[in-house]
Amino acid sequence: MNWHKFFTTIVLIGFCGIVNAQSGLNREHINLDADWKFHFGHAADATKDFNYSSANIFSKSGAATQTCIDPKFNDSTWRKVDLPHDWAVELPFVNVDNFDVESHGFKPVGGLFPETSIGWYRKSFKVSKADVGKRFQLQFDGVFRNANFWLNGFYLGNNQSGYVGVNYDVTDYLNFDKENILTVRVDATQYEGWFYEGAGIYRHVWLNKYNNVHVADEDVFAYSKIAGSNATVTVENTISNENFDAANCTVKTLLLNRNNQLVRESTAQKIILNSKENKTIKQTIAVVNPVLWSVENPYLYRVVTVVFQNGKEIDRVEKRFGIRSIEIKANGVFVNGKHVKIQGVNCHQDHAGVGSALPDYLQYYRVQELKKFGVNAYRTSHHAATPELLDACDSLGMLVLSEQRLLNSSPEYMNQFERLLKRDRSRACVFLWSIGNEEGWIQKTETGKKIAQTLIAKQKELDPTRTCTYAADVDTVYKGVNEVIPVRGFNYRQYAVADYHRDHPSQPCIGTEMGSTVSTRGIYEKDSIKAYVPDQDITAPWWASTAETWWTLASPSDFWLGGFVWTGFDYRGEPTPYKWPNINSHFGILDMCGFPKNIYYYYKSWWTNEDVLHISPHWNWKGKEGKPIDVWINSNADEVELFLNDKSLGKKAMPKDKHLNWTVNYEPGVVKAIATKKGKQFSTTLETTEDAVTIVAEPSKKILLADGKDAVVVNIKVLDAKGREVPTANNLI
Ligand code: GAL
Repeated sequence: MNWHKFFTTIVLIGFCGIVNAQSGLNREHINLDADWKFHFGHAADATKDFNYSSANIFSKSGAATQTCIDPKFNDSTWRKVDLPHDWAVELPFVNVDNFDVESHGFKPVGGLFPETSIGWYRKSFKVSKADVGKRFQLQFDGVFRNANFWLNGFYLGNNQSGYVGVNYDVTDYLNFDKENILTVRVDATQYEGWFYEGAGIYRHVWLNKYNNVHVADEDVFAYSKIAGSNATVTVENTISNENFDAANCTVKTLLLNRNNQLVRESTAQKIILNSKENKTIKQTIAVVNPVLWSVENPYLYRVVTVVFQNGKEIDRVEKRFGIRSIEIKANGVFVNGKHVKIQGVNCHQDHAGVGSALPDYLQYYRVQELKKFGVNAYRTSHHAATPELLDACDSLGMLVLSEQRLLNSSPEYMNQFERLLKRDRSRACVFLWSIGNEEGWIQKTETGKKIAQTLIAKQKELDPTRTCTYAADVDTVYKGVNEVIPVRGFNYRQYAVADYHRDHPSQPCIGTEMGSTVSTRGIYEKDSIKAYVPDQDITAPWWASTAETWWTLASPSDFWLGGFVWTGFDYRGEPTPYKWPNINSHFGILDMCGFPKNIYYYYKSWWTNEDVLHISPHWNWKGKEGKPIDVWINSNADEVELFLNDKSLGKKAMPKDKHLNWTVNYEPGVVKAIATKKGKQFSTTLETTEDAVTIVAEPSKKILLADGKDAVVVNIKVLDAKGREVPTANNLI
């Protein structure tokens, strides 16, 4: 990471919370993030792992004595943590010559580090006696990974996935007006990916409370169909009766606008449920002149399912919902009938400072920073996203390509895929599913094809409103997965898209991973000791390309649906093209903290309608007087004239989807560019600065909620005495 110009601080406020369900309410979604206890276990030594593998914990129900699963275990010496928590980010970097350790960012987590790869978490909470008779469910949004869960000594289950969450009904084990002890053993000795993955309970945990007759929240499926200026919203509601007797109830669905005013409601439907029976009913609501969700206007309604019994409301589940249509054809993606070229980025989920344990605010911050340079689509590479990231995409208007972790149709991965599909199929932002990424062993084989067919069928079954792709790192190959995948994904190999399209004209083509310029913000010389790559669109690994290479191919042709750049932000791990002590990637258009690199202005020029005029590099080249400097102009103007200290260096026409260069012999002073676009002029300047004298801290917002969860990003910059940002400052702050 470069600390030479700016750095970012993320400020979080700590807090203490007492979990207390409010008795009487029909449904509550109670956050359990506060006041956990944490301790490392050990993957190779049972005595350091609270006897986990030596005590006979599965022989009797409800105790697990001699281990920390035992509710009576004293955890007073354990460290206190609040969630979300990523223990990997807290560990020091280690120089171990191993590909997986390197690709995960040189943190001591994984099979080689038994003493820092098992994490135990304990949490105590109370539930009021007034709620006896209700149902309770624990909801874990994401734990990395292979987590085992116990409540009051009762084993709940195992979640292999580090990315798809898991829910457990815990009604039978719950204590009322007495401590409940929740214990989680997290085993991060195995990796799932080849990038920084973090470790621990890094997403939220909830206690859900509802009645025995209730909406099966995770099964609600809302979708819309638009006809002219009207729409029909359909909501498939599964109602569940957990009583030991049959139950009658009435269900209706409401559509509220974003101000919570009723737009329309469905007819009420009576249902009779046997004990332990689930029934799914479809309810429709006709909407006249709906406000449609789009990237530009992400309008969200709320669909609310209400259950009544004996005339009394007993449950209510609300989901934010966008009315919109998505069509994916060989000549483009159409949102509400309007062609949308996919200007996408891939992103991993970690951020500077916090690893994978992002405060919710940071999800919005990241999506907003991406939108600023014209990104309209986000690929969740290569796993189920954090729900709050998708909330941000729904709210801010960002299409999402939602990806399953592995191309595998075994029960384990089918189950993960089902959970992902059900979790996110009602979201406006999700426009396409991905069944996998670069499965080199099987993607061209019959086995790969059969697995893909099974996954595609599951996707169609659970979400007939969308289609799917697969990120293939093969060129014109039409064998295996590509024979059956509805939308052909290309990782790199941009040169093959036109030929492939010619041979398979009806199969839409999308760039699932494109570009991949490696660069270090603000640095203009390659330095393999400091692990710097020049901050221009010039260096790409052998399998990848510069931004200009792929976008000049993709931009003019509608048979390219568009593509996703690898990557939006830099991330921990994958230090290509370097190794230790380089601990993070160089692929980002934005760096680890979210500051733009020069390539940002290339994309912004061609991905937005804003006037863009950007000069690089900086103009602080002391000692290089008279030497040639390669000056780049990124702009979407018609022509640009460049000046050095008021002397014109000539005017050039700006070719579409490209940039301009001038070779300028350095002399300190002012470089100025004047752009002309459709007869209008705008300009920008670069100045040689003096030394840094001032530090400016710029918060991303001015009000921070005192709720223990809010966060603010504080960017630091340094200025000279004349108030000019000093791009070469390298002061330790
Ligand atoms: C791709 C892969 C990505 C990332 C990238 C780095 O092959 O799908 O996850 O590793 O290469 O260039």
